[in-house]
Amino acid sequence: MAKSDLLSSADVIAQFDRYVIGNYRRYPVCLVRGEGSLIWDAEGRRYVDFFPGWGCNLVGHCPPRVVEAVAEQVRTLIHVPNTWYMEAQGAFAKALSDRSFGGKAFFCNSGAEANEAAIKLARAYGHPQRRSKIVTMTHGFHGRTYGALSATAQPKYHEGFEPMVPGFEYVAYGDLEAAAAAIDVTTAGVLIEPIQGEGGINIPPDGYLQGLRKLCDEAGALLMFDEVQCGMGRTGEWFGYQNFGVEPDVMTVAKALASGVAAGVMMARPEVAAVLKPGMHASTYGGNPIACRAGLATIETIEADGLLHQAKVLENKFRSFFQGIQAERPELIRDIRVRGVMVGVELTCDAAPVVAACLEKNLLINATQGKVIRLLPALNLPDDLFEEGCSIIGDVLTRMEIPTGAA
Ligand SMILES: Cc1ncc(COP(=O)(O)O)c(C=O)c1O
Repeated sequence: MAKSDLLSSADVIAQFDRYVIGNYRRYPVCLVRGEGSLIWDAEGRRYVDFFPGWGCNLVGHCPPRVVEAVAEQVRTLIHVPNTWYMEAQGAFAKALSDRSFGGKAFFCNSGAEANEAAIKLARAYGHPQRRSKIVTMTHGFHGRTYGALSATAQPKYHEGFEPMVPGFEYVAYGDLEAAAAAIDVTTAGVLIEPIQGEGGINIPPDGYLQGLRKLCDEAGALLMFDEVQCGMGRTGEWFGYQNFGVEPDVMTVAKALASGVAAGVMMARPEVAAVLKPGMHASTYGGNPIACRAGLATIETIEADGLLHQAKVLENKFRSFFQGIQAERPELIRDIRVRGVMVGVELTCDAAPVVAACLEKNLLINATQGKVIRLLPALNLPDDLFEEGCSIIGDVLTRMEIPTGAA
């Protein structure tokens, strides 16, 4: 569509108000085009994007290899149901397995679905021994479907939708003793994000994931890592767990998996995966050739462009940038938590005004858990856009007034 054919942001918003359910808090901006770490709205305004696609566009908007692969696949064959074989799904499963722990893949379309699959697999695996309990962690986030929501130990997301699915037990994130008390012979699995995303970019204490691995092994429970947000190279390793030297039995990945083409996957150790027999679980669109080609092109982009290394470079740059601001304003910045291109900056006050002020200055960022600024920038964020975006955040944070009584 030529720019002149586009509706204005105001026209689009009016259409939404009339026809789209209002279950999202949206900024009054209609986005129309993206390239790398830049995105434009219907009025032609250009934004630097430090939160591209809510973590989906890990290699930037419209990465050329992914665009080419998807376009070619769409011209050739759009959909292949899972009653047939297709080359791309097998190749993508192998690529993920080779880069993780040698597991087998079940493909779906989102993070919540991948976690549903993991929960069902853990229960099916534990069924002969009557194991069904799933242990999860406070501040975790696993999705909005009932199983994934029940696994999400944040009461605010449950409110009004109770009762939750039974059989979930929540323990404090980072507290190994609490985990030890909860993990027992009735436990089918422990589901945890190796680095919590929505919970505020929380990095596990030393030895915590190793401790969970040991507890699971002793109890005979599966250790399941939700890598929906931290996986696929974001932390500078292919998967977040690889930063901590612990292997899971099961992992789930989505978001960046196929660069923004809807895709999710559950990977499981072959002996565990063997429990799922034909008919026990399924997804119509899961592992479709468009998503798998996009996923393969994402991996190719990360490897060909050396982007795992780039994650570490950006980690250091973001950390020192925010440390500089913290030195200036220690009363505003409480904590800085960075792993690769997962950046969390905890303030002593509400972070929403920072997001709004950055938007005013053409920079897209996010806030989570009230006080945490969250950035999930692309691995290939160029130096000039890093500088441009950071100078906007820096300006906003140095001028920001802390409301009285905030801390
Ligand atoms: C760690 C984690 N798990 C699961 C989900 C749910 O993914 P989806 O929205 O694709 O269902 C999210 C989404 O933010 C997430 O961050």
